[in-house]
Amino acid sequence: MSSFTPDDVPDLTGKVALVTGGNRSIGLESVYLLLRKNCTVYISGRSESGFEEAKKTLTGRGDISEEAIARLHFHKLDLAEMKHAEASGHDFVKSHPERLDILIANAGVSMQTPDKLSPDGYELTFQTNQLGHFAFIGPLLPLIEKTAKEHGDARVVITCSDAHAFAKDGIDFESLSQTQPHIGIRGMGDAMRRYGVTKLALMLYTRRLDKEWAAPLRDKGTMAPFSTRLLEDQEHTMTQVYVATSPQIKEKKEHGLYYVPRKNWRGRYTHSSDQAPDTKWGTDDELADKLWEFCEQALNKSRTSSQ
Ligand SMILES: NC(=O)c1ccc[n+]([C@@H]2O[C@H](COP(=O)([O-])OP(=O)(O)OC[C@H]3O[C@@H](n4cnc5c(N)ncnc54)[C@H](OP(=O)(O)O)[C@@H]3O)[C@@H](O)[C@H]2O)c1
Repeated sequence: MSSFTPDDVPDLTGKVALVTGGNRSIGLESVYLLLRKNCTVYISGRSESGFEEAKKTLTGRGDISEEAIARLHFHKLDLAEMKHAEASGHDFVKSHPERLDILIANAGVSMQTPDKLSPDGYELTFQTNQLGHFAFIGPLLPLIEKTAKEHGDARVVITCSDAHAFAKDGIDFESLSQTQPHIGIRGMGDAMRRYGVTKLALMLYTRRLDKEWAAPLRDKGTMAPFSTRLLEDQEHTMTQVYVATSPQIKEKKEHGLYYVPRKNWRGRYTHSSDQAPDTKWGTDDELADKLWEFCEQALNKSRTSSQ
């Protein structure tokens, strides 16, 4: 497959994107690449001040017009508690009912030290990366579906990582509501495993979303959930932007795949699912079903909690 550069991002006039954790790093770079191709972009994040900082950073780059900055909006989201994340999803739909063409679930935490439990009672990395996104994305799905039906294309991109390979034993659901002391090398190894578990969970979530939600709707327009792996520089950010925008995805009717960036022999990056490493757990549909059930139960519990 050919490489995909910022200039290959197609014109996105009229499209609406939402990027979780879009206020910095990889998320912000994705926002930049969408914005410069005429997309309207919502950055969801915990604080309006973080959003203002992001705006300043983009303006400071010098190649983003005032008109583009005016297409940038803030949507409040804290993934650390499911009922609040779900309410944020509903708020988005209420205030922006027209369309949502691109959702990039990019926000994430890694290696939380010290290891803490969330208000819902789960280990914080899993809460933020998986449970928070599960709760937030649910209410957005009808809007994404409507967009696919009306405009023929809508995409959900879930930011993963090759760190899923750290989850060597799959997902131990019981351990998700326990803290582990981070002491020495063992503690570090455990923090890496926990992060890996969240990224494995996101891959399985994508898979289930593709199978159960998108598949029956596919003939109404491209409904394509994907997961992607990234690294820090812009080339790696391109993976999620490629999957979110490339016409090739629609032409090839791709969906439900895990994409990775790789350097080709010319030293340029390509973004393809063919190059993804085989993963035993990442394609385990039984585990994906168990995860879905676990997330639904956690969401029901969060909804009825008194906090
Ligand atoms: N960096 C890498 O090398 C790498 C490699 C593979 C995959 N990834 C994945 O790529 C994604 C972005 O990574 P990054 O390095 O750009 O991360 P980062 O610089 O640490 O940024 C994380 C983003 O997530 C947001 N976030 C954290 N906790 C949140 C919460 N409770 N509610 C809402 N938003 C929250 C942060 O918002 P605040 O500003 O409010 O904290 C921030 O915008 C992550 O999913 C990560 O796992 C990264």
